[in-house]
Amino acid sequence: MKTDRLLEDIKLKIDIVDFISGYMQLKKAGQNWKGLCPFHPEKTPSFMVSQSKQIFHCFGCGVGGDVISFVSRYENLSFNEAVSLLAKKAGINLPVGGSDRKVFQKNEQIRNALDSALKYFRERLSESAPAREYLKNRGVSKESIDVFNLGYAPAGWHNLLKHLRNRGDSDSIIREAGLAVSGSKGLYDMFRERIIFPIMSINGNVIAFGGRALDNSMPKYINSPETAVFKKSDTLFGLYNSREEIIKRDSVIIVEGYLDAIICHQYGFRNVVAPLGTSLTSGQLQQLRRMTDNAVLIFDGDAAGIAAARRTIRMICQNDFKSKILMLPENEDPDSYLRKHGSSSFNTIIENSKTIVDFILSTSSRGKTDSITVRDALSHIIEIKDLIMADEMLIELSRKTGIDERILRLEYRKMKSGTADKKNQYNEPGFSRKNLEEELLLSAIIAFPEKSDYVFSRIDINDIKDKTIFSLLKKIQALENRKDLEAILGSVDKGERELFTRLSVEPGFDLELADRNIEDCLKNIEKKKLDERIRLAGLSGDLKLVNSLCVKRKNL
Ligand code: UTP
Ligand code: MN
Repeated sequence: MKTDRLLEDIKLKIDIVDFISGYMQLKKAGQNWKGLCPFHPEKTPSFMVSQSKQIFHCFGCGVGGDVISFVSRYENLSFNEAVSLLAKKAGINLPVGGSDRKVFQKNEQIRNALDSALKYFRERLSESAPAREYLKNRGVSKESIDVFNLGYAPAGWHNLLKHLRNRGDSDSIIREAGLAVSGSKGLYDMFRERIIFPIMSINGNVIAFGGRALDNSMPKYINSPETAVFKKSDTLFGLYNSREEIIKRDSVIIVEGYLDAIICHQYGFRNVVAPLGTSLTSGQLQQLRRMTDNAVLIFDGDAAGIAAARRTIRMICQNDFKSKILMLPENEDPDSYLRKHGSSSFNTIIENSKTIVDFILSTSSRGKTDSITVRDALSHIIEIKDLIMADEMLIELSRKTGIDERILRLEYRKMKSGTADKKNQYNEPGFSRKNLEEELLLSAIIAFPEKSDYVFSRIDINDIKDKTIFSLLKKIQALENRKDLEAILGSVDKGERELFTRLSVEPGFDLELADRNIEDCLKNIEKKKLDERIRLAGLSGDLKLVNSLCVKRKNL
């Protein structure tokens, strides 16, 4: 069928390890690649990707699948949207179909309108001398304009609106894309006479815009409203341009403003992102957490900056980031600092940035050892789930305040027991020991599909006790092309998928001993079958049969 071929094409062109590495940090672990699961909170990696099988599986939450399931989960897309995104990436044209066609088409239309708006704004910037002059005065290079796709929305109420209508976009799509607002006299442009900062999804699709006034008019910035393709609290400005560098350096610099991010990038600090005008959210940190757990937070040194830093630090602790805080001199932001003092000075102050403990002690209006200050520090430390990290901070707090570590620990425990300790809801992975041989046999087939004919010739799959294994084997047996076992993922339920992807990344036996393993499993299955027959023969009192079955079993 068409879709099957399309899926095959996509999988041929997109390697799952490469693809997932674009979203998070993966490290080689034996045959597989390993990282922190993006689908449930965790501290130690249980998310595995098998390159040879092109399958991922999380041993923590059980989620697994192929590259399509990954992207649809990660980006919260329907199956069709995920296929479309991957096809685009692989350079394949695709036919649209399927049940959520309507939503899919509408979101596509919104994305298209946003794409056209981006092009429109970029062209207007190239034509507008004052807008280009503004960016030049702000020290933004031509290269940065291209890297960040900066644009300009000219003065006037209906410029973009007319342009999009001429292209054939409907009013409702234009409005739903957040590009126009309804007023008493009908729709009008959302962005007017502003420098445009496009906000990109992690894949580099434009999903929203920020717009800055060229003068001191208020508000200084306006941003697109949330839409079907834009969720503010999960989006970071600059992430698309910075993600490779964040993964490479295993560290992210978080600044407050769009221009700060752009200028940092321009000065060679390419692992930089900015939230969208609000303080950092948990959703944004989760996005980053898959790429790194080291953050440098940069704030203005004024009172507002300190308040913002405090809010953010709490969030940082709750999300188990290792972070350092850099308070710039008052009335400076990374943009102004870099342009005044240059990269190497900026690098030095980053290297000298404060730990969380230092930050809390140094910004307290009371003394370092004041009990309120110390409790304040402890109130952050108790939020940290990673006990080793918390412990290091307790030691640091003791060292820097001179308060005995034992006392701090006592107080820590007291404060911590006051907060409800959430139990880990995710179970330890493991084989269900009951039908281990059945599971290993399935695993061997997944690892070596070419051996499946032999296995099927040796067993009657109706003898398989485990329901999930039975149905998976049945589906595999029915496949025309067993080389592409993953094809069955299109027709499996949750339990089947979980088992299949788990065994794909972790066969549970030494692959070099596959044949022996298969023989052992076949033998064990046969033995268990005989045991059952012996039991039944015993019940019916047929001793002769019991005897002959026992002999048979012994000779296996
Ligand atoms: P700042 O006021 O610090 O501005 O806002 P800035 O980024 O340094 O910009 P310049 O240098 O004055 O041009 C920080 C961020 O807060 C959001 C924007 O994302 C901005 O980059 N913001 C600010 C808004 O969303 N709306 C506003 O009215 C102001
Ligand atoms: Mn600024």
